Amino acid sequence: MIKVRKAVLGDVEQIFELVNHYAKEGLMLPRTKDSLILNLQSISVAEEEGEILGLASLAILGHDLAEVRSLAVKDSAKGRGIGKMLVQRIVEETELIGIPKLISLTYQVAFFEKCGFEIISKTEMPQKVWTDCVHCPKFPSCDEIAMAIQTA
Ligand SMILES: CC(C)(COP(=O)(O)OP(=O)(O)OC[C@H]1O[C@@H](n2cnc3c(N)ncnc32)[C@H](O)[C@@H]1OP(=O)(O)O)[C@@H](O)C(=O)NCCC(=O)NCCS
Repeated sequence: MIKVRKAVLGDVEQIFELVNHYAKEGLMLPRTKDSLILNLQSISVAEEEGEILGLASLAILGHDLAEVRSLAVKDSAKGRGIGKMLVQRIVEETELIGIPKLISLTYQVAFFEKCGFEIISKTEMPQKVWTDCVHCPKFPSCDEIAMAIQTA
């Protein structure tokens, strides 16, 4: 049975492998083990019998905005609704915290539409989003699509 839960220290090795597998393909940003450990509280995982099948993390960008980051599902586990479960968990967490809007910068437009997100113009994104972008390897020629869902 697939369980979505908060990440624990023992998950870090599997999470690291999964994220960096997709980072090598240019599908997501790489993460170091240190950055995973320091942000462990923000990460949720989907687990089945000890195997980490997917993860997603929640980054708070301000009092009115949060972002889904590091969303990934193992190749062998795709198409089983795990990505959607993980995004739903991040949406619920955002609602619980009381933040009204959740964004994603992504190439997976059809998937996020299925999760209730809509495309927004990058110019609608507040300045604080771009302060992080300066540290991103894709900066300044980012071709990701901005999407958002209202969470309150
Ligand atoms: C994108 C990703 C997380 C989707 O995970 P998944 O577990 O396979 O997705 P789900 O099974 O939960 O799919 C949910 C819905 O989206 C649809 N969907 C999933 N991937 C899709 C795609 N690439 N194109 C179109 N629709 C897609 C599914 O058909 C499903 O539709 P349904 O609700 O009508 O049945 C996964 O493919 C992945 O990890 N990709 C590589 C890393 C990546 O790109 N991460 C995103 C960074 S923002």
